[in-house]
Amino acid sequence: MPALPQHVALIMDGNGRWAARRGLPRIEGHRRGAGALLGLVSCAARDGVKTLTVFGFSTENWHRPPQEVEGLMALLRHYLKAEVTELHTNNVLLRVIGDRAALPPDIVTLIQDAEALTAGNAGLVLVVALNYGGRADILRACQRLAAAGGPWREDALAGHLYTAGLPPPDLLIRTAGERRLSNFLLWDLAYTELHFTDVLWPDFGEADWRAALADFARRERRFGGLGT
Ligand code: FPP
Repeated sequence: MPALPQHVALIMDGNGRWAARRGLPRIEGHRRGAGALLGLVSCAARDGVKTLTVFGFSTENWHRPPQEVEGLMALLRHYLKAEVTELHTNNVLLRVIGDRAALPPDIVTLIQDAEALTAGNAGLVLVVALNYGGRADILRACQRLAAAGGPWREDALAGHLYTAGLPPPDLLIRTAGERRLSNFLLWDLAYTELHFTDVLWPDFGEADWRAALADFARRERRFGGLGT
């Protein structure tokens, strides 16, 4: 059986371009992107992937026009209210990583409720990064480790990251042709296989998911050693 990634990280890029090509407002691209994400959650759960970590909103995304930021927050609000029951029914455990302090207070409450509702689920772990930045995550972990007085070991530092307790991603997928990490999960991606596709995120479907898994299965992972 080909190797299956246990943990997949995802940068859902290209929503804006998808909308622009159709003469639609950018938020329409995000709306379609959110739909594509729900589709991927189903595929990943069905195929036995254990964890899916997606970049929903970066610390840099605040620099977008207020209208787009507000649109993304409204979308998030909608999904946290309307779609969480569906995720819960499908046994998905939701976990949000990133700095919640800057998020609208009602969204913080919705996140807490959704995490509490799904905390006991044993299916796919869906990790949504919101107001997340990889460098900020590492800096925060260092501060917390210093406050704890060490020990100054890699595993101890990892235990203070937002992603504490999660295995590192085996595969990162980024859509829409960009080939960069954009400050996502910098510590965790050290040995992750990278898969890039030109497909714009709202168009990413089952065939693209299969192609990413097939690409992963062809990789030889040596983790700095010589392999077998
Ligand atoms: C990148 O496309 C996408 C985002 C910045 C947001 C991703 C959000 C979703 C898929 C919707 C789900 C919502 C949340 C908040 C979980 P882009 O706007 O950078 O596209 P472009 O590069 O073509 O402009």
